[in-house]
Amino acid sequence: MNKNIKWYVIISFSVIFLIAYAAYFFTDIGRGLGALGDDDNRIEEPLDNNKLPIPPLLEDKNPEEGKAEFDLKVQYGKTEFIKGYEANTLGYNGNYLGPVIRVNKGDDVKININNTLDEPTTVHWHGLEVAGEMDGGPHQVVDPNTTWEPYFTIDQPAATLWYHPHLLHKTGEQVYKGLAGLFYINDESSERLDIPKEYGVNDIPLVIQDKRFTNNGNIPYDLDMRDIMNGFLGDTVIINGALNPQLDVKSEVIRLRLLNGSNARTYEFNFNENNEFHQIASDGGFLEESVKMNVVSLAPAERAEILLDLSDYNVGDKITLRDANYNLMTINIVEDNNKDIDIPKKLVEIDDYNKDEIVRSREFVMSGMGPMVTINGKQMNMDRIDEKLNLNELEEWVIRNESSGMGMMNSTPHPFHVHGVQFQVIERDGGAPPLNERGWKDTVMVDNGEEVKILAKFRKKGLFMYHCHILEHEDSGMMGQFLVE
Ligand code: C2O
Ligand code: CU
Ligand code: CU
Repeated sequence: MNKNIKWYVIISFSVIFLIAYAAYFFTDIGRGLGALGDDDNRIEEPLDNNKLPIPPLLEDKNPEEGKAEFDLKVQYGKTEFIKGYEANTLGYNGNYLGPVIRVNKGDDVKININNTLDEPTTVHWHGLEVAGEMDGGPHQVVDPNTTWEPYFTIDQPAATLWYHPHLLHKTGEQVYKGLAGLFYINDESSERLDIPKEYGVNDIPLVIQDKRFTNNGNIPYDLDMRDIMNGFLGDTVIINGALNPQLDVKSEVIRLRLLNGSNARTYEFNFNENNEFHQIASDGGFLEESVKMNVVSLAPAERAEILLDLSDYNVGDKITLRDANYNLMTINIVEDNNKDIDIPKKLVEIDDYNKDEIVRSREFVMSGMGPMVTINGKQMNMDRIDEKLNLNELEEWVIRNESSGMGMMNSTPHPFHVHGVQFQVIERDGGAPPLNERGWKDTVMVDNGEEVKILAKFRKKGLFMYHCHILEHEDSGMMGQFLVE
């Protein structure tokens, strides 16, 4: 072969290879950018009659009224997600996920956390307003074979919160392996309202996560370049640790408490008959009024409580909870219950913060591409305090996502989370936020090119984090620290 032609061939092939690789890397051709359902690896029929597991309610060891004490053990586990195969997992007091901790507003709570792993961890109370030292962020490391005993008073309204590890650079892996649990607060409103309250019967906890299973049913946390950029997107969804679960209910109004416990995926929850449902709570508690909707979008770490009216269904009917068009869970009507409850419109009173009382405004600009994702141009440094705040002052935070700038091919939405506070979203892209974002929030989705304004009053002292809740971004350093004094 002529020398020139040989080089021509080599160069052409290299160019074709590079284009193909770029296409694989940046588009949906490769692994479908974590597309659900259309992947060869998707497991269709994992277990027959896979009942939705309901996490146990954690026993309160303190019989005294107004006090509560709980034990949590961080441990290794084995979980049979797929029939006949065991995955190596992590759990609190069990093999996978954790029990539901349920407390009342005003309770003095103590929790004893024993770490039986060979590696350090932390336990963060996501959404809880407690002092910095009790928050369980990256500074409150629980070393192997030690116990951490945080205590706090519940000082906020009824809500569906959660707990999970927050070890620097390790949050993604430990959450993915199974460390996450729900944390419920009850108060006068949650008691007073005529809504479903029977735990596991018509008041159902749902922790939704996406996984990538190996052929032998394991869930290794191996990140490729694209996971580091976009966050880890699995191809299969599990709920409360179960694949394609079945939930048996009566023909009545049911309450679903949805937690997006995924590392990076955002869901568009809906039902297969395009059923109307009512959202009654956001991250930090009840909305002022229930909001009628057909789809609720939840970014990682966000929660929504919804009421679904099944009273017109008959025994034997089924409906499906979906993410867009992908089936997540089958709801079977197995018993008649013709009790009529009216879905309440008015729920609680929320005092809107007054813009005239804003003491300070700060900007948080999220930019860059994984792993070089930054907030205000900086990556997390445990020894650097990024912002200093005063206790009980009303702050406006302007959060922008500029990661789509500079013609980036691969930009990502970033869910922004703030510790130690529940805030109010007052503006999304220049307009009023949607109705279901007008309650208490601790995590807010900020899409490419978007600007979101929030108002927050910090009522607890100490050192806290703000960060992107795509856990691979957080672990890459898309996090900062603020001190409240
Ligand atoms: Cu859900 Cu800083 O965490
Ligand atoms: Cu948090
Ligand atoms: Cu992010």
